[in-house]
Amino acid sequence: MMKFFPLFLPFLLNAFDLGACRSCHPAIVQEFESSAHALSSAKKDPFFAAMLRRSPEKKSCRNCHAPEAKSAEGERGMTCLSCHRIERIEKHAQANRNLYRQKADKLLYSAEKGREDKVVTYHIERSWLGFSRKKVGSPYHDIDYRNPIYYSGEVCMGCHSHKVNGHGLDLCRMGDKGVDLDGKNCIGCHMPRVPGSATTIRQSDTHAWHGAAGLHHGAAMLSAYLTLLVQAKEKGFDVVVKNDTPHPLLTHPARILELHTTIVRGAKAQKLPVQKMRRVLARNGKPTAPWLADSLLENTIPAAGQSKRFHFDVALRPGDRVETVLEARLLPPPLAKKLGLEAREAAAIPLKRSVYVVGGSSK
Ligand code: HEC
Ligand code: HEC
Ligand code: HEC
Ligand code: HEC
Ligand code: HEC
Repeated sequence: MMKFFPLFLPFLLNAFDLGACRSCHPAIVQEFESSAHALSSAKKDPFFAAMLRRSPEKKSCRNCHAPEAKSAEGERGMTCLSCHRIERIEKHAQANRNLYRQKADKLLYSAEKGREDKVVTYHIERSWLGFSRKKVGSPYHDIDYRNPIYYSGEVCMGCHSHKVNGHGLDLCRMGDKGVDLDGKNCIGCHMPRVPGSATTIRQSDTHAWHGAAGLHHGAAMLSAYLTLLVQAKEKGFDVVVKNDTPHPLLTHPARILELHTTIVRGAKAQKLPVQKMRRVLARNGKPTAPWLADSLLENTIPAAGQSKRFHFDVALRPGDRVETVLEARLLPPPLAKKLGLEAREAAAIPLKRSVYVVGGSSK
């Protein structure tokens, strides 16, 4: 680690001073504060804290959950600099690693169409006759637009690519299909452009949503990438769950998906058995903790682009409404109880709903 002289401190970016960023990027800071990223440390994420306490290997957790803190045990999760100071990503078999800019300067990396070859430092541009003056850049920091990892999902892959445990088992693996430069990548889906200026100084119509849509925050923004279909069959009907994303629908090994199906006939509602999808980590054929597991007992989470079909042997009648909801939980309720967490940590999070009327249309 580099040591800085206090003399230089006022010129350095303070990773934890969101106040400074807020004065010029208020919308982005507000979105970020509610994101899973800002709440990634042990003080703010009870599930993470519970696993951290039990894990025999705590040191590496910091790399992704609190890259700018001394340990992952404290208050501080990710900050703006956890992404905007990544210089490059080092690939490793167990987990990739972000290499952060070590220079004690105030340079940030970002992406902007048309500025791919530029480093923008604050300056004033005069028109050729000298009548008008225009301020360009940020008075607080410099911006380097040349780093290619910011033009695709590559910038996410230091933390989100994969994590392999000591027994060679994938605890999670995102795959790199969603990194792609063209079309929808990680950023396009999880940080979509929303109305509102990115800065108070240079006005723009939209900015990249910094809430990082996912189970903790903003799941509704992702429902367009999931399909739920009801198909009448000769005997009964099928419900098809399709994962329209380029990665396994959920990656964390504790997650579960639940498909809830209800038939509404007149004033009567009949709930059908809940269908679960999950990955179960195991050793010697028994479910176990992530650091002990060497195999999978079950893996029914829909893979990238995969459809899962569930058959219900219940005859439908004209006019019946089939209501389906796909829900997720961060972890199964019995595990939450075992870890001493509150029930709400394992609460159901709706991801997608659909309604199918027999003899009508599907919504
Ligand atoms: C005094 C105002 C000010 C402060 C404080 C400030 N910024 Fe900025 N920032 C700007 C302006 C203005 C721009 C747009 C510059 C341009 O496009 O010419 C900008 C642009 C950016 C960009 C690049 C946007 C792009 O074009 O992709 C990032 C990233 C960024 N700021 C992050 C931060 C972070 C993180 C902080 C806090 C550590 C911060 N800013 C504090 C004014 C500020
Ligand atoms: C086509 C849109 C799309 C693309 C592209 C995409 N995702 Fe997702 N991602 C989703 C959806 C939908 C979910 C399911 C969660 C939900 O609906 O809230 C999801 C879930 C996730 C989760 C939550 C995992 C969990 O177990 O809690 C993470 C993290 C994630 N994506 C990161 C990424 C990264 C990194 C990339 C790029 C490699 C990427 N996504 C590309 C749509 C997308
Ligand atoms: C998870 C990584 C990540 C974090 C954390 C993050 N950013 Fe960003 N930010 C990005 C990416 C990626 C882009 C580029 C989006 C694009 O335009 O393709 C971006 C774009 C921006 C922009 C340009 C906005 C636009 O759409 O024109 C600003 C300004 C910015 N970030 C400021 C911040 C500030 C301030 C924080 C902390 C509150 C922050 N960022 C935290 C990843 C991040
Ligand atoms: C420094 C590491 C790091 C980087 C870089 C990073 N993430 Fe994350 N991300 C995390 C961690 C850690 C979590 C889980 C936090 C928790 O739940 O405690 C997370 C969670 C998420 C989630 C789930 C949100 C939810 O509500 O459950 C999404 C989506 C996501 N990240 C998308 C992205 C995208 C897109 C990028 C790239 C622009 C990115 N991340 C870059 C570390 C990172
Ligand atoms: C390579 C980066 C990386 C490392 C190292 C890492 N994590 Fe994570 N962690 C993530 C990401 C990314 C997520 C978001 C879920 C997903 O994408 O699967 C996450 C999510 C979690 C969650 C779920 C939190 C929630 O609220 O749902 C727990 C628990 C967790 N990690 C525990 C740990 C522990 C304990 C360690 C250290 C032994 C650790 N992690 C190390 C990247 C990492």
